[in-house]
Amino acid sequence: MIEAHSLQQHLQGIIPSARLEQTCLPDCPAIKLWLLNSDYPQGNLDPEQVQQVMDNPLYWVFCWASGQVLADFLLSNPHWVAQKRVLDFGCGSGVVAVAAALAGAAEVIACDIDPMARTATKLNASLNDVTLTVASDYDAIEGPVDLIIVADVLYDRANLSWLQRFRQRAQRVLIADSRVKDFDFPPYRQIERCDSFTVPDLDESAEFRDVRIYLAD
Ligand SMILES: C[S@@+](CC[C@H](N)C(=O)[O-])C[C@H]1O[C@@H](n2cnc3c(N)ncnc32)[C@H](O)[C@@H]1O
Repeated sequence: MIEAHSLQQHLQGIIPSARLEQTCLPDCPAIKLWLLNSDYPQGNLDPEQVQQVMDNPLYWVFCWASGQVLADFLLSNPHWVAQKRVLDFGCGSGVVAVAAALAGAAEVIACDIDPMARTATKLNASLNDVTLTVASDYDAIEGPVDLIIVADVLYDRANLSWLQRFRQRAQRVLIADSRVKDFDFPPYRQIERCDSFTVPDLDESAEFRDVRIYLAD
């Protein structure tokens, strides 16, 4: 449990009263993750802590609505990943990578630029008894990839340029997103729509709970 300890220390260095707790995903109960405690101190941060959170985004302490939807989609439709080499881009807590592994992928590579997200992903893989390959550098990943899976990385509009790069790398790409309005990036097309929420619940507005899955193939 050394990794849980180092993640907890990192979290409490930013939000002292917060902690990690094992959480079963309400919309995807086959998966449990180490996430921010559900009674986390929302609104209780002083200005210095707010600045700390801005400087060190803790994406990995949440399972984002899009991640929960894509994880559930893969578990309900395992043919998308079964026996395939799958790459989860922007893995955060690792939720979608864990789902792909549980759904029978031959190999799952979980990639994130944030070292804490990579540590969280390893910890959550072990919590769910699956094996993942964890990577920091997308360009350094060798060999063919059958499917790229992506959940909630388009909050940063700079990441829109990746849509084209994903297609050069894999024959199929699945993007789950609720941040981009009027998503219009052919050949990506909507194949699924589902209401969900971020865990623990950030009480986000209805538009951010309205998750779409887009496919390019
Ligand atoms: C909002 S979180 C989503 C995490 C997870 N996919 C989910 O749905 O719960 C976005 C994640 O993407 C990662 N990320 C953002 N831009 C990235 C990039 N250019 N390369 C790799 N990871 C990136 C962030 O570090 C963060 O962990």
